[in-house]
Amino acid sequence: MYNARLAFPADFAGWRRAARIALELGVPPDAMSFTVGEEAPGLFAEPLPEAPPPDAPQPTVAKAFPDLARRIVCHADPDRFAFAYRLLFRLQREKKLLEIASDPDVIRATEMVKAVDRDSHKMKAFVRFREIDDAEVGRHYVAWFEPVHHIVELTAPFFARRFTGMVWTILTPERSAHWDGAELAYLPGATRDMAPAGDDMEALWLTYYASIFNPARLKVKAMQAEMPKKYWANMPETALIRPLVAGAEAAQRRMLETQPTLPSFRHEKQEERRAMTLPRMDKTPEIGPQFGYNKVPDSIEEAREQARHCKACPLWEPATQTVFGKGPDDAPVIFVGEQPGDQEDIAGEPFIGPAGKVFDQALAAAGIDRTQAYVTNAVKHFKFEPRGKRRIHAKPNMSEIKVCRWWLDLERDLVKPKLIVALGATAAQAVLGKTVTIRDTRSKLIDLDEATRLLVTVHPSYILRLPDAAAKARETEAFEADMALVLKTVPELAVAA
Ligand code: URA
Repeated sequence: MYNARLAFPADFAGWRRAARIALELGVPPDAMSFTVGEEAPGLFAEPLPEAPPPDAPQPTVAKAFPDLARRIVCHADPDRFAFAYRLLFRLQREKKLLEIASDPDVIRATEMVKAVDRDSHKMKAFVRFREIDDAEVGRHYVAWFEPVHHIVELTAPFFARRFTGMVWTILTPERSAHWDGAELAYLPGATRDMAPAGDDMEALWLTYYASIFNPARLKVKAMQAEMPKKYWANMPETALIRPLVAGAEAAQRRMLETQPTLPSFRHEKQEERRAMTLPRMDKTPEIGPQFGYNKVPDSIEEAREQARHCKACPLWEPATQTVFGKGPDDAPVIFVGEQPGDQEDIAGEPFIGPAGKVFDQALAAAGIDRTQAYVTNAVKHFKFEPRGKRRIHAKPNMSEIKVCRWWLDLERDLVKPKLIVALGATAAQAVLGKTVTIRDTRSKLIDLDEATRLLVTVHPSYILRLPDAAAKARETEAFEADMALVLKTVPELAVAA
């Protein structure tokens, strides 16, 4: 009997190392145990050797397994590591095991992954940061959360991507995560009294919540199923739920009685701006919880609604509206452009103007169905310079791209595409978070993470602007070849026969 000691409750890297050694030694699942930290192993268990025998054959695993195992080891089940090893062991002989939906181990794995993903989703949705004055780092945002499973390491990178420019800490009873603006670190668990109780941000957040509360859309049961009471203590807006629910019926009646006559579009827009309840956003060109977005949207619909009010950079002011992404919220591919143009700004949809036509033609030539893809832009407001009656496209600058990346990252997290296609250098820069050239990156499939790849190609308006016909034909062909590569990589995008 062997035992492997893991460093912390969701130590996936440690498990993977140990599981590989055990597998190469041929240790059967019932002769293998795992302990965490100082936990005592069984009486007859001896420590697993540090390395496998030198001539041991390399084990192989199904492509889907690492992601599955990574989530299984986050489950609260004390048997999780041994169970993940059993699956791995079986997979050596039963290559198609994961496809057998009726297998008891596969059923158990699926349930565990579902529970972990649900818990991780709750953490993303219900963490509420409070600002504390920290003598060392200045503004420091701290949140308290009590997960059911061991999901801190799994979920903290989401917050690091979302709130990159801030210093934050999420305290949980078992382990805490700390982001210093550059690196994620994991700290020991904490107690609730170590987290701050409230800050002046709270008043703003409450005003915002009360203003977006729509009595006509109230579904108390659905709300409680989605946001169980256990999380309420950490969420300032929940103090408003009872009075708002109590007054909902009367408020709905009042709304119906005072149905307004529709104001002109322009007027409506000005009113909306005036009613904006996120005043701190005006003060600094950053975005994040300090501006009222301390509720991370958990659906594309909610993100689109929040983005309508975005004032995180000066581009919102002259633009007509936010042009958010469009397409299925589980699309396998996200196409990212630079920013909406004149026509997109008016219609509120990406890629419907001249560049959109070039894009559509290339998709059609490759046999791609655009309605199966999610199409968006790196920057969500039209940037332009007025010239007479015309509005001439102006390139977004670094800080506008950086600020707007909050939305792009969010779209990526919610849609979870297999492939992101960056149309042009600005899009590639926004996805990768660094400057790259089209020459160096074009037409290559780049791994962004375990589940997502990136393909960089030119922006369709580059083709539009080419002055000579031969160059245009050549570049159109190259762009269509890139679209063909998109289809080859993600065949689900094919136009239905
Ligand atoms: N150019 C872009 O990058 N995006 C659009 O939506 C339109 C033109």
